[in-house]
Amino acid sequence: MKSLQLLSFLLLSCVIVSANTYGEKKKVQVSKENLRTGWCDCGLKALESQSEHTRTKKHQKNSETRFRLYTDTTEGDCQIFLNQLETLEKCSFNSSLPLVMIVHGWSVDGILEGWIWKMAAALKAHHKPLNVIVADWLTLARQHYPIAVQNTRHVGQEIAEFLEWLEESIQFSRSNAHLIGYSLGAHVSGFAGSFISGTKKIGRITGLDPAGPLFEGMSPTDRLSPDDADFVDAIHTFTKQHMGLSVGIKQPVAHFDFYPNGGTFQPGCHILHVYNHIAQFGITGITQAVKCSHERSVHLFIDSLLHKNKQITAYWCNDINTFNKGLCLSCRKNRCNTLGYNIREERLPKSRQLFLKTRAHMPFKVYHYQFRIHIINEIQGKPIDPTFTMSLIGTKEDAKNLHIPLVEGITGNKTYSFLITLDADIGDIIMIKFKWEGTPVWENIWDTVQTIIPWTKGTHRPGLIVKALRVKAGETQQKMTFCSQSIDNVHLHPSQEKTFVRCEDRYQREN
Ligand SMILES: *[C@@H]1O[C@H](CO)[C@@H](O)[C@H](O)[C@H]1NC(C)=O
Ligand SMILES: *[C@@H]1O[C@H](CO)[C@@H](O)[C@H](O)[C@H]1NC(C)=O
Repeated sequence: MKSLQLLSFLLLSCVIVSANTYGEKKKVQVSKENLRTGWCDCGLKALESQSEHTRTKKHQKNSETRFRLYTDTTEGDCQIFLNQLETLEKCSFNSSLPLVMIVHGWSVDGILEGWIWKMAAALKAHHKPLNVIVADWLTLARQHYPIAVQNTRHVGQEIAEFLEWLEESIQFSRSNAHLIGYSLGAHVSGFAGSFISGTKKIGRITGLDPAGPLFEGMSPTDRLSPDDADFVDAIHTFTKQHMGLSVGIKQPVAHFDFYPNGGTFQPGCHILHVYNHIAQFGITGITQAVKCSHERSVHLFIDSLLHKNKQITAYWCNDINTFNKGLCLSCRKNRCNTLGYNIREERLPKSRQLFLKTRAHMPFKVYHYQFRIHIINEIQGKPIDPTFTMSLIGTKEDAKNLHIPLVEGITGNKTYSFLITLDADIGDIIMIKFKWEGTPVWENIWDTVQTIIPWTKGTHRPGLIVKALRVKAGETQQKMTFCSQSIDNVHLHPSQEKTFVRCEDRYQREN
């Protein structure tokens, strides 16, 4: 991908840039000692001395970050100036309400991106009244990537000073502040949290696909980390690697780290869609399309504000492969949590990685089901690789012709587990139709089998024995068992469909 090549190039220019441009501008001496630590580190070291520098300059002149209060009428036009109390009043900052501060990321064109106002409006529309401020650091964000990275500490420092000032002047507690940072803005928020003076922490920081390059693998003090606020959550949506780099950070950086669709890449962002996008929007479509997966983190968060009855559950799991087998849908002992604004705030000693699937469009929620099916292959010693489909009949809706993702061939006598997601809420499942999709190849094999093992009338054809299907619904945590409707005939053959009905009692009796 072009953007990633561009990123890599920008990163390589770090050495030159951090020693020259930035040093000149901020009059920071980059010592030999600093340069020795490597091209990446040198920028950050330079920045450390720079932030000490700004710390001493506290309460002096205007900050470079603009704090723009968003109201339904002002749309972020009302600017609050540090140490100018009258601007708080003029903008109608209400100190008895919580504050949400939106922090944008790296900027190519120097314009505040459209999602910022969508997010601000969604926060305002939420049931609780809030102060919403957009931290506009465009002048420092519209730089070569490595310089913008260095500037994140400076901006973090300014946000910390802003919150300290609110506390000193109008007794607004920092624990009522929630910073929502996208991409580089996530690390800006982290630095704000670590630079704020005193022992008390900022209430909450949400990192929306925190930037990866120059942060991945760094120590917790050099990136967003769980120490930066009382509660930290992060949504990772674009961690697909290219030449060892990914746009979004892959490692956990929060108390709860969400990995929608595994976190690497998002549905609806495929290259074909990219071309469609370019055809539709022309050359500006390129940046839109490249940002698709990265910015999905933002839209998932907005979704959580807009669709109260479609809150998304995510599940604690070791990795996406285990999740894809449906093995992680348990919510026992708080193993699952809600993605987005309405998360359950629980401070855990260790980061917890949560997984979920989504749709390609808002509302993104899907319904997760684990299916477990016990299959006995009667054709001994011959693993077969059949295609199964399934239809679910629910109390509200049906879901037809679902493809069953079995990754391995069917051998002798084994239980298979897989994950199925549905876009719609079909209610309680009352019946399952399970079909072995027959193909011409299959008929051939069957003919062969017939000639090798001829059977007479009365004895059954060898096939697959499927007695029961066990289902667990992630969203409701309901467990159900479905048994073959015809108890006498549990055999399944190619092109055949079997019906399974609810049978908890019967299943328990038989086992
Ligand atoms: C500030 O918010 C509180 C709580 O919602 C409300 O009672 C009060 O009227 C607000 N103050 C102003 C000046 O709007
Ligand atoms: C399948 O395996 C289970 C235990 O692994 C065993 O109890 C059962 O008899 C086996 N069934 C057949 C038909 O081989």
